[in-house]
Amino acid sequence: MKKDASFSYRAWLQPGNIEKTTSSNVFAEGDNCSFAQEECILGIAELAVDCDVSLCIDEKLPAEGYSVKFSENCVKISGGCTSGLLYGVYGFLARVRMGECPTTLDFSSKPAVAMRVINHWDNGDGSVERGYAGKSLLWKDGKLGYDLDRLKDYARLLASVGINQISVNNVNVRPLTAKLLTDEGLKDLVIVAEIFRPFGIKLIVGVHFDSPCWIGGLKTSDPADEKVAVFWKEAAARVYNAVPDLAGFLVKADSEFNLGPLAFGHTQDIGANVIAKALQPFGGILYWRCFVYNCLQDWRDTTIDRPKAAYDTFFPIDGKFEPNVILQIKHGPSDFQVREPNSPLLGAMKNTRQAIEFQVTQEYTGQQKDMYNWAVQWEEVFSQPFNENRTTRDLVGSGKEVEAVVAVNNTGDDDNWCGHLLSQLNLYALGRLAWDASLTAEAITKEWVSLTFGKKAEIFEPIVKMLMDSRHTYEKYNAPLGICWMVCIHHHYGPSVDGYEYMKWGTYHRADTKAIGVDRTSKGTNYTSQYQPHVRDIYENLETCPEEMVLYFHRLAYDHKLKSGKTLLQHIYDTHFEGVEEVEGFIKTWESLKGLIPDEAYTSVRARFDMQLENAKEWRDVINSYFYRKTGIADAQGRKIYE
Ligand code: GCU
Repeated sequence: MKKDASFSYRAWLQPGNIEKTTSSNVFAEGDNCSFAQEECILGIAELAVDCDVSLCIDEKLPAEGYSVKFSENCVKISGGCTSGLLYGVYGFLARVRMGECPTTLDFSSKPAVAMRVINHWDNGDGSVERGYAGKSLLWKDGKLGYDLDRLKDYARLLASVGINQISVNNVNVRPLTAKLLTDEGLKDLVIVAEIFRPFGIKLIVGVHFDSPCWIGGLKTSDPADEKVAVFWKEAAARVYNAVPDLAGFLVKADSEFNLGPLAFGHTQDIGANVIAKALQPFGGILYWRCFVYNCLQDWRDTTIDRPKAAYDTFFPIDGKFEPNVILQIKHGPSDFQVREPNSPLLGAMKNTRQAIEFQVTQEYTGQQKDMYNWAVQWEEVFSQPFNENRTTRDLVGSGKEVEAVVAVNNTGDDDNWCGHLLSQLNLYALGRLAWDASLTAEAITKEWVSLTFGKKAEIFEPIVKMLMDSRHTYEKYNAPLGICWMVCIHHHYGPSVDGYEYMKWGTYHRADTKAIGVDRTSKGTNYTSQYQPHVRDIYENLETCPEEMVLYFHRLAYDHKLKSGKTLLQHIYDTHFEGVEEVEGFIKTWESLKGLIPDEAYTSVRARFDMQLENAKEWRDVINSYFYRKTGIADAQGRKIYE
């Protein structure tokens, strides 16, 4: 534990100065409460709580649930199990830090889904795929390697918002991380598991579908081959012998050059089931990703439409997976773009377990240089209709269609964990939403701001407002109206309107001098038919299709009139000018906080805003010039557009 933790190092429940003294006592009933007791003592010392606390396990409570109640001069925290108790402690500390008086506390809580998961895309060499916050917290020099204090604090961060599983290596498994299935790799995994275990966090190992060849010395990884089944059984037994409470394996197969069952002429269930069966004796889960599409598509071939791929691949095999397989579905059919409809696969399979996958890391959303509040977008995702009676939010929960919430993490060894201090909010929000999908983005944002900066109105209100606006500001200067992908190829920061247009990844906007967009209605690629009838009709019809994603579904002329009365083209110009102005507004707001918030927080965020402004201007100029040159139509307000 860092005693003199600087502000940038701190994040919501990170104890900072723990030298403070307190008169409170923490009483624990039974040994299995001792870890929660330690955490509670640490927390109340930091917060200088002035009352006694008693901790106990109450098996009548839901397993990971808890209750907190003040009575007889003592705050009584009860948990359904040790993790539940720990969540109760963190819940109590959070409420106190947010300004509630311990003597008025009386609340209980339980998670909506049983699996609340962070995926690390960390590589064996310490780099992080799509990571924008320094090096891996978990890997160094080809093996699991870490700063112990830091990793414990990280585990606390995750547990304090209810995360209970993490995958330790990139879904794109490379030879170094493939070693996790070998005795050599397992030695380190055992130690990492010990660090996370007290925090109620179980590990997941990303495994390569070709492991039977890579590390098993076999000549094939064909899932129908008996030797391959034996390989997976032995691998699972070896891993569970070392880490008996491992959550399971995660596989990215038949996706972006990773081998999968397709290569052997099999459907996805055949590939998944052989690994799932190997995990069954140990109660392990197999997370199987649905990000399966043809990444070698010819851009001239307009018959293939990438967003259709996941549904086409998986829907026909609904019900064919082993009961311990969970299909991990990205929330949108493209790839964590700034605006997408929800994947039609979510909730569609009635006999297959499902997880929704988000990105906390900001791959396409500013890479932690630009301020971006994912919670606002996730609230929109959850609010999208599934059918006439239910939203996506209604699908999420234990016993419902979507029983796990997974996200790709945004942390690294940077001082403030996330590169951009304000990006901590996204990790916090993910945990809170996985715990309770009914929370609004505003409620979560307010929690995080008050835990991090306190509740003084002159600080709290402007920061909350900026964060709430940040998603839409970013969207304004990014690709317009759900068209997606106008981003620099490979690294995905900054604009490149045609960057992906003539490449093989299946991500096209097909802009010409008159119109833009891919017609995905029944008159076009018929992607809309993958949705439930009610939702299909909404997207089919130009009148009812939500305007902010109209170009995802429809091909429109630049003079198409939007509901605002503006043409499509004028909307593009206006939003791109506004985007830059709004970033300038953020900078003014932030500058008004100088001296009111800790200097290092002020300075580090101020520096990020310079990068964001530069990015916003580049997007504005590149996008506006592109459309001006395509159409020859000037901005109605005569603002500067480069020719
Ligand atoms: C995106 C991302 C890749 C990642 C992939 C995935 O395409 O750019 O880096 O590997 O998603 O989700 O597997």
